[in-house]
Amino acid sequence: MADKNDSMDKIVSLCKRRGFVFPSSEIYGGYGAIYDLGPYGVELANAVKREWWKCMVQLRQDIVGLDSSIFMHPKIWEASGHVAGFADPLTECKVCHVRSRVDHLLEEAGIEADEKMSEEQINALLFANLDKIKCPSCGKKDFTPVRKFNLLVKSNLGNFADDWSKEPAYLRGETCQGIYVNYKNVLDSSRVQVPFGIAQIGKAFRNEITARQFIFRTREFEQMEMQYFTRPENEMEEYEKLRDYRWQYYTRHLGLAEKNLKWHKHKNLVFYAQEAYDIEYAFPFGFKELEGVHARGDYDLTQHAKYSGKDLSYTDPKTGEKFVPHIIESSVGVGRTVLAVLTEAYTEEDLDGDQRIVMKFPKKLAPVKAAVFPLLKNKPELVSLAKEIYDALKLDFMCEFDDNGNVGKRYRRQDEIGTPYCITVDFETLESRTVTVRDRDTMEQIRVAITDLAGWLRTNLSSDSK
Ligand code: GAP
Repeated sequence: MADKNDSMDKIVSLCKRRGFVFPSSEIYGGYGAIYDLGPYGVELANAVKREWWKCMVQLRQDIVGLDSSIFMHPKIWEASGHVAGFADPLTECKVCHVRSRVDHLLEEAGIEADEKMSEEQINALLFANLDKIKCPSCGKKDFTPVRKFNLLVKSNLGNFADDWSKEPAYLRGETCQGIYVNYKNVLDSSRVQVPFGIAQIGKAFRNEITARQFIFRTREFEQMEMQYFTRPENEMEEYEKLRDYRWQYYTRHLGLAEKNLKWHKHKNLVFYAQEAYDIEYAFPFGFKELEGVHARGDYDLTQHAKYSGKDLSYTDPKTGEKFVPHIIESSVGVGRTVLAVLTEAYTEEDLDGDQRIVMKFPKKLAPVKAAVFPLLKNKPELVSLAKEIYDALKLDFMCEFDDNGNVGKRYRRQDEIGTPYCITVDFETLESRTVTVRDRDTMEQIRVAITDLAGWLRTNLSSDSK
């Protein structure tokens, strides 16, 4: 990992230069806290989602998938508590009029606070600590009282009245509500029984005030959420198991170093939570929340039963006992995971006085698995054989063909996008039907027979956790 001080700028610059992440609507000057994924960014995000799905659905007999809609009945957001309580505490600097999140100002000054505190609690903390807090924009200490600002994004969907803002349909603020309202459908249509989980990946939208920190906090983002339905008395035991499972996922499956991860226990619990921990990652701007693991009790199903008028209790098929399942959840953003993976992978090496930037992604996450080069562009026999090899490999692996510039430059380009293997067709290939394969991390080169290449790649791409 690069030196923390300037590594964020370097990662942002590499993401733009190499097509991982672009600011949204850039030719119009950008659009606050929204980003687009470029050609390699979309490959990386897809690989992150595949790995999450594998761990949370494919490897788990007790968890099934779902893809619910972004738009849902407006009552869902009343039942969930979002209309009344999904709000961030804001203050405005009376001098420069920049608005800031008070929980963040307090946190940066080393004072324990979070967005779940009441308006009164956080207001008192702000004004009691003015000696330690200043406006991040102008440095003054003259703030308005704290106000909570609702994060839900409204739309005019299906509303043809003149003043549609009175009955808005919301873009979902979290994906899990789609899981709660489908819990009966899943129970009735699949073979799951309590305890079981439902997993979903999808877009969520929040009117975030802080438009900083790149893809860490955005107004449109994707969540990967799993909600696990348990017997009430087993909630905390299952919760501890889920916490452990999620820790293993980051260290074993995503290859994040243990030293870059830590648990943060919430002291102030949001209205629905019985217990809440975050897994924090050492982002370039410090340890910050990567994922939330929450024990939600029976809050969600009880609320939806109340607002919908439907019975959402569960009847044990063996004992006939009826109860409202308790829910534990794991919730993480795709963008935040991608930023953690980018941070972990970013490496600078000194190469005989030259700097090599290499993204040491776990191989399963690398956007491109292999690049195929003819040694020289102007030798048709090398170019056509390299194309032939590329055409065969692309059936099984995400590959690139590149004949532009000298081989050293082509290596550097592939290093910057984290391609594990570069395959070069040279003059010896014409004689021996072997190619050189160069390893991204060690830069060692070996010769592999063309006929063995696909098998060799398959074995080596899955040979380590990286
Ligand atoms: N269902 C629970 C829930 O949504 P949360 O703590 O509000 O809990 C869970 O969000 C995760 O979603 C966070 O840990 C983070 O990874 C991601 N997330 C939340 N807001 C985000 C935003 N504005 N931009 C990017 N990711 C976000």
